[in-house]
Amino acid sequence: MHHSLLLSLLATTVLAGPRRPHGHAIAPGEIKCPLVFDGRVETTTQLSDFDSYGTSIFNPDYVKGNDIKWSQIIKFPTGVNTSRFDDSELHKPFEVTISDQSIFQQQKGFRRAGLQFQGDTNSGSPGSSGIKTLHFSVKWDAQRAFNLSHEYLNVWHEAGDYSSNQFNFQAGAIIGQSGLARDTWKVLDRRNKQIWSTPILRNEWQNFAITLNFQRNTLRVYYSKGDEPLKSVTNAVSNDNSGQGQYQIGILKKPTGTSDVVNSGYQQRNLNEGLIYGGLFLEDSANDCISL
Ligand SMILES: *[C@@H]1O[C@H](CO)[C@@H](O)[C@H](O)[C@H]1NC(C)=O
Ligand SMILES: *[C@@H]1O[C@H](CO)[C@@H](O)[C@H](O)[C@H]1NC(C)=O
Repeated sequence: MHHSLLLSLLATTVLAGPRRPHGHAIAPGEIKCPLVFDGRVETTTQLSDFDSYGTSIFNPDYVKGNDIKWSQIIKFPTGVNTSRFDDSELHKPFEVTISDQSIFQQQKGFRRAGLQFQGDTNSGSPGSSGIKTLHFSVKWDAQRAFNLSHEYLNVWHEAGDYSSNQFNFQAGAIIGQSGLARDTWKVLDRRNKQIWSTPILRNEWQNFAITLNFQRNTLRVYYSKGDEPLKSVTNAVSNDNSGQGQYQIGILKKPTGTSDVVNSGYQQRNLNEGLIYGGLFLEDSANDCISL
């Protein structure tokens, strides 16, 4: 290339915006801390890649309907921009869906599809020690809208003995807590007490980060919408983070009209619901490192 042409191209690039050094979009948010688990899906990923260990960044066998594969559960939405911590050249959004087939083991009350990071073992996982921050962005899909008369778990960390979750990120009508608004994203602590909530937006990405300090037993929530930087929205609140376990990301829809939510209750037929995810990763927040 002619030298002066190169220089003028470089000058144009700089004028067009310093965030685009190669002339293409990069992520508006930069990951500053060491990655523990990277759940950002690459642009080249095919749906069938989610079905085996060699090609999936998640556990291909859990936690999903017995008779369906992840390639039937995950969708790649069209017309949706990448979220704050995704690089549009490298990553793409993905949608987790539930249907009538989303029955895991004998849990006939639930409809569920939950991703686990490959390597996030139930015992001794690096995700369950030190200080870790889970990042995720979500976007509502009007074509596969939730029924907010139900209780949804979308992101959580389940203790190793499966008896409780260290935290829940939820939507809809929380069973037994009718005082809580339905149309919100909610963060609940180990005792299922809401510590923060924000209205569900229909047309914008909403970005969340949850710092779990396994040494001091605290939980802290960060939030932003669109491409805005995350802001701390709670203090580091006291929370029982003991018991190890695994992160889960997706949808667990509880039934209505039962006291035995695992096994019975009402779920509508021909279910077709989903939630779009992006910017999913766990970072090491040792020394209070956090990507905003
Ligand atoms: C995607 O981003 C571009 C550039 O910021 C914007 O013009 C466009 O409206 C966005 N599209 C959607 C579907 O949000
Ligand atoms: C939403 O859930 C409620 C409670 O189970 C149910 O009565 C209602 O029919 C559902 N709505 C739709 C559109 O299925």
